[in-house]
Amino acid sequence: MKRIKRIGILTAGGDSPGLNAAIRAVGKAAIGKYGWEVMGIRDGFLGLARDDFKLLTKDDLRGILTVGGTVLGTSRDKIHRMVVDGRTRDMTPTVVRNYRKHRLDALVCIGGGGTHKNAQRLLDKGLRIVTLPKTIDNDVAITDSTIGFDTALGIATEAIDRLHSTAHSHHRIIIAEIMGHRAGWLTLGAGISGGADVILIPEIPYDLEKIAAAVRGRSKQGTNFSIVAVAEGARSHEDAAALAAAMRRRAKARTPDEKEYAKLRLSEIESEHSGNTLRLAKQLEGLTGLEARVTILGYVQRGGTPSYRDRLLATRLGTACVDLLAKGANGIMVAARGHGMLPVPIVSVAGKLKLVPLNHPWIASARSVGTCLGD
Ligand code: F6P
Repeated sequence: MKRIKRIGILTAGGDSPGLNAAIRAVGKAAIGKYGWEVMGIRDGFLGLARDDFKLLTKDDLRGILTVGGTVLGTSRDKIHRMVVDGRTRDMTPTVVRNYRKHRLDALVCIGGGGTHKNAQRLLDKGLRIVTLPKTIDNDVAITDSTIGFDTALGIATEAIDRLHSTAHSHHRIIIAEIMGHRAGWLTLGAGISGGADVILIPEIPYDLEKIAAAVRGRSKQGTNFSIVAVAEGARSHEDAAALAAAMRRRAKARTPDEKEYAKLRLSEIESEHSGNTLRLAKQLEGLTGLEARVTILGYVQRGGTPSYRDRLLATRLGTACVDLLAKGANGIMVAARGHGMLPVPIVSVAGKLKLVPLNHPWIASARSVGTCLGD
């Protein structure tokens, strides 16, 4: 294995708190411990295609540990389907050329699901790639946790705490919509920590009548307010069935026309469901006689200062990543495992989603304290 002189680093996908802590950890260890050069690549894989590179100095890495977002910028671009000058193109050859042009000996990609698919594509082209798992959704396979999840969990929990007093004062149902894409980790974690009365996650399709019964049950016992924590991807049984059918159709599609149609249909169904939370509020008002209000937490969950746990995780994984590279690592994601880390093949992470298993202890705990999970 060639001795490393220069590495590249990029952040891709939705931003999350702790990205700068990870950039700093990788950069400081690479420059300070091993004497390598570090090239920052702007806006994720887009910068790799656009040749938007910048040498990072120790000064660039100073003062960013506690800063939210990513100093490198980010994007959700896919290497093989990038929009360039209004046309969708496969930019893989350009990306490979730029990697070689800048004489990179390895590339560190910090990201979630989409990043791992891009990383696998570049590995297949012979580039040397190592990744770090980040996303507030916590849905990256194999790793115990992802950079950003803890901070977002704290923010969502605080929001639920605050919603309690206003829901209680007005005798209302307040529904807090929480991010997480197709996974329920954030909602389940924040719902349990904040003591939500109902927690709805994508992994457990809900029955409206069961939720209404839980709310009415509380009223009967003299508590006429309820907090519902709902994941953005949570669905009723009927909606979940429609979505699953559309996903099966997309998986089965073979010809380009079939694929295009199936993709379109899936996104139509997803956008039909995007107003789910507001509809849920109306339905619950009708079924319980209580007023309902919706709070969509949105991007607040992704912004601002990372928690100490995310800074620690980012620093642990970032420095471990550099040590692994120095020992010759290639094609691995540095997963969090207990207090340490575990190098796992990118191929076993790319394209896999870590959803909440139905036998997860958090689900059992929520049920044990009487939380309605909508089923
Ligand atoms: O993946 C992180 C995430 O915040 C999801 O929870 C959410 O569904 C998505 O990103 C929002 O994406 P965008 O930033 O593209 O609007």
